[in-house]
Amino acid sequence: MERATYDWNRGDEAACAAESARTGEAEARGTGARGTGVRGAGARGTGVRGAGVREAGENGEGWGLAWRPPQSVRVVDETLRDGLQNASGVNPPIGHKIDLLHAMAAIGVDAVSVGLPGAGVRHTEHSRALCREIRSARLPLLATAAARTVAADVEGIVRAADESGLPIEVYSFIGSSPIRHFAEGWDLDFMVRAIERAAAAARRGNLKFCLVTEDTTRAHPEVLRVLFRAAVEGGAERLCLCDTTGHVTPYGVAELIAFVRREVAAMGAEGLQLDWHAHHDRGLSLPTALWAASLGVERVHGTALGVGERVGNTCLELLVDNLGRLGARPRVPRERLAEYCALGARALSWVIPPDHPIAGVRYRQEQEGDRGYRVLAEEAAEEAPEEALVPMTLHLVERSGAARSGGNAAGQAGQAGQVGGSRVALAVPARRTLLEALRYDLDLVGTKQGCDKGDCGACTVLLDGVPVLACLTLALEADGRAVQTVETLAGAPHLDPLLDCFDRLGGGQCGFCTPGMLMSATALLDRNQRPSREEIKRALSGNLCRCTGYTKIIEAVDLAARIKRGEADEEAGVDLPGADCAPPPLPSNASRARKERTEKEQAS
Ligand code: FES
Ligand code: FES
Repeated sequence: MERATYDWNRGDEAACAAESARTGEAEARGTGARGTGVRGAGARGTGVRGAGVREAGENGEGWGLAWRPPQSVRVVDETLRDGLQNASGVNPPIGHKIDLLHAMAAIGVDAVSVGLPGAGVRHTEHSRALCREIRSARLPLLATAAARTVAADVEGIVRAADESGLPIEVYSFIGSSPIRHFAEGWDLDFMVRAIERAAAAARRGNLKFCLVTEDTTRAHPEVLRVLFRAAVEGGAERLCLCDTTGHVTPYGVAELIAFVRREVAAMGAEGLQLDWHAHHDRGLSLPTALWAASLGVERVHGTALGVGERVGNTCLELLVDNLGRLGARPRVPRERLAEYCALGARALSWVIPPDHPIAGVRYRQEQEGDRGYRVLAEEAAEEAPEEALVPMTLHLVERSGAARSGGNAAGQAGQAGQVGGSRVALAVPARRTLLEALRYDLDLVGTKQGCDKGDCGACTVLLDGVPVLACLTLALEADGRAVQTVETLAGAPHLDPLLDCFDRLGGGQCGFCTPGMLMSATALLDRNQRPSREEIKRALSGNLCRCTGYTKIIEAVDLAARIKRGEADEEAGVDLPGADCAPPPLPSNASRARKERTEKEQAS
């Protein structure tokens, strides 16, 4: 037996250099890229670094890996052990675990971890129940169980195997990185003795033994060599190499596996099999698992949905799917994989992400032809469920303009007033706002859609003569009532004085607020022919203007009031550009039917 020779006080660079010299490599190879392994006293600074696997440089130099598709590899499902160590801390009912066990068998999982019986009574009971289920249901699953490198833990697995009548492989783990040794105060002698005792306990129980070197990718090669030798001499059938912190790239995987193969060959244990167990901290767990498979490890590990410690493990369903596509395993139908995901999510109290490539709701809908990842607006409109339409009528009031010389089209001296209008029948969904009905059903786009939430007043219209915010009024509230919009104000040649004065005095710039201003002012002048400046301001206080400022607007309303009262004839009557252009007619059902007919004819 090779005993501890690693000098804990020697920096990792020195250890790597020694390793390089031994293997004849130009540069240090082995295990552990730059990581968080504790450096011993005497090493530079206080930083921590691991030892061993050298990563490719920032610029990618040193990669040069040749990908070979994996030939054949077995899959170990760690959901019921590592998966349960995720942050949710859920230990599901045994029924959920058993359902998942069957789903594992259905997707061709080869081996399953039935847990860590040493973790407590409930874990022991569940591990035994799972073993009994595998046996009684004749599931084609090899049972494995985790144990600390402690004889008592291994003996617990032996008892579970005896009780269930099912052989269980012992996966006995020991921390192998410098930081773990530092934290635990371990030395190599202690670790070697622990491995010897654990392996002996497995031997006594006639169970196969696997040494799991936790954090292998950040361990020192000299430490690994000693631990591996202890395992080999203890009768281990396999070694499990772990990227516990999700640390390496495929390059590191290749270096590590090459190192381990060399070491076990040197020990005369070429037949020793290897497992690969990885975490997802860098998002590389699936690629590294595939690389490990390509490099010939016999088993790769994963968990349902990749759920596990911290950010999780290799996603098992994706691993199975990808290995199937690479020809290393039989293809598994997606429905089975999706069922496995669903049962895994249930057991782990986990939510399947909507974009999960196999079981996500978006993916499934895409596959089932229901809906694409992105729904185009027109598709959404086509697919929108039919909404019941409610018939209603709007009475669009038409107003008269002021005659330039003391009379208007209605024959009222100086006054603009209601002179008729049109009744429009339409049908709207119950949730349609009056603003939407005016703009999008009747094409009365003079009423502006500003904030659409009652802040700006741009949508102001008159309902039975009272100003309302059309964006906050349901269309059905206007059923059978008189509606006035900016289009109902009189146009040329008897222009409504308000329109005239806003134009004359520069009461609008961009004009976006102007329709709302005009309607608020119309309501004011209809009820108060002689408003004060203060009353005008108060009447317009709900209408925001972002560019003109309010002085010109107030002056325009004041002048319009005077014109309407016949007190400012001399200021009115100037020909305006476009004064002889009559505005378009208000909508009516007859005109709408005509328009639709014309459109149809043009389309055909
Ligand atoms: S759009 Fe109605 S208040 Fe702004
Ligand atoms: S004129 Fe532009 S917002 Fe009032």
